Amino acid sequence: MAPEETGRSEPTVVESTPLSVEPDPPVVPVRQTIASSLAVVDPVPSFRAELTAQLGGDASPFESVEELTSRLTGAAPVVAVLGPSCAEASALAGVAGLVARFPMVGCILVTEQVTTALLQQALRAGVRDVVGLHGGADVLAEAVQRVSATVEHAVVAAPAPQTTPDVGAPAPSVPGPDGTVEPGRGSVITLFSPKGGSGTTVLATSLAVALAERSTRPVCIVDADLQFGDVAVSLKLAPHHTIVDAVTAIDRLDAAMLESMLVTHEPSGVRVLPAPLEPAYADQVGAHDLVRIIGLLREMCEYVVVDTPSHLNDVVLSIFDESDSIELVAGLDIPSVKNLKVTLQTLRLLDIPEERLHLVLNRADSKVKLEVGEVERALQFEAHVQVPSDVVVPQSVNRGEPVVTHAPRSGVAKAVATLADQYVAPRPARSRRRR
Ligand SMILES: Nc1ncnc2c1ncn2[C@@H]1O[C@H](COP(=O)(O)OP(=O)(O)O)[C@@H](O)[C@H]1O
Ligand SMILES: [Mg+2]
Repeated sequence: MAPEETGRSEPTVVESTPLSVEPDPPVVPVRQTIASSLAVVDPVPSFRAELTAQLGGDASPFESVEELTSRLTGAAPVVAVLGPSCAEASALAGVAGLVARFPMVGCILVTEQVTTALLQQALRAGVRDVVGLHGGADVLAEAVQRVSATVEHAVVAAPAPQTTPDVGAPAPSVPGPDGTVEPGRGSVITLFSPKGGSGTTVLATSLAVALAERSTRPVCIVDADLQFGDVAVSLKLAPHHTIVDAVTAIDRLDAAMLESMLVTHEPSGVRVLPAPLEPAYADQVGAHDLVRIIGLLREMCEYVVVDTPSHLNDVVLSIFDESDSIELVAGLDIPSVKNLKVTLQTLRLLDIPEERLHLVLNRADSKVKLEVGEVERALQFEAHVQVPSDVVVPQSVNRGEPVVTHAPRSGVAKAVATLADQYVAPRPARSRRRR
């Protein structure tokens, strides 16, 4: 449909300008000064011409996603309208890389036929909207306007360029929990308790947020409690993707694609890979999938925090194998101690180096007739962090806010800060074996 037929004098985004081939000017984070550039991408000239016409002639043409990627600097927002020829696997893989590198680029796929399968594939690749080629200029204009608003918002919300996570670049060398440094790899910190309700998720989410406050590189949290994971709900997130999407695409999964599946906890910047939405999907995620996912995440993040279920299975054991540090969470109660003792024996059988194991005592000030010293003696481990019991914890959980930001002056927040500091310090303290 020609622009005039829509009855609108300006069928495209009013602010949009053709994409500049010159380096983009620095972005001034003031809403009124931002205008998205428009790009049309398709190798077929007739598709490019048709889409450019639908957009009112105000778009820069590109023959491929790669060509567009090579011309971007990432400094200005761009809405890329991808033509029907881009509706295939290799172009969509290119899109996943593009949007991971340039979060200020919003892609719309225009396709001859919108099928559920294509929609799924496109959204997984990071395309923001899919519209039909013959839907008309007004449908496309509305999609452009929507996407334009989100990419411009991303510019306003984006941190200063030097702190923007650049997942394409290798992570800098990060000290492991034993103080050793392995170049280019982030640290994997797994939290586990063999008894449900011990505070594993509370501590994992808060630790991730505390680490993000201390890091210039990305920090992410993986919810490996595949049946009843509640990391996303604890952080008040409504994710579009879960770990199941990553596993579905495991054969072609790379860092860029995985990055596009993470949801950001905006207040802290922590990237989250949520658990499946329903327990039935848990079986779809295997131990080898988790190993691959964690391997990719550690390439792009400084810290990968992993929350786990309260039982041992092959998935959890393989996560232990991948972990630089395992924080074992226990309370001052006999079942907790008994189960943790069994867990420690299992970890020893698995030859997990002892220096990777750390003990965190939660609700360590509870008056329950079991002393911290007794628990440490029974486990032959010194707790390297003791977390007090505090009503701010359930309050923060119910608000969907990590306790470190909900009640930063609380004893719980300070204990989590101590834990986080041990990872950012050059030589973190470790739980010593008690004799
Ligand atoms: N230090 C604490 N003080 C008070 N309540 C706590 C504390 N740690 C955890 N809780 C409460 O225990 C509940 C279970 O914690 P959660 O992190 O979900 O345990 P897990 O993941 O080990 O099953 C949470 O809802 C939280 O309110
Ligand atoms: Mg939990």
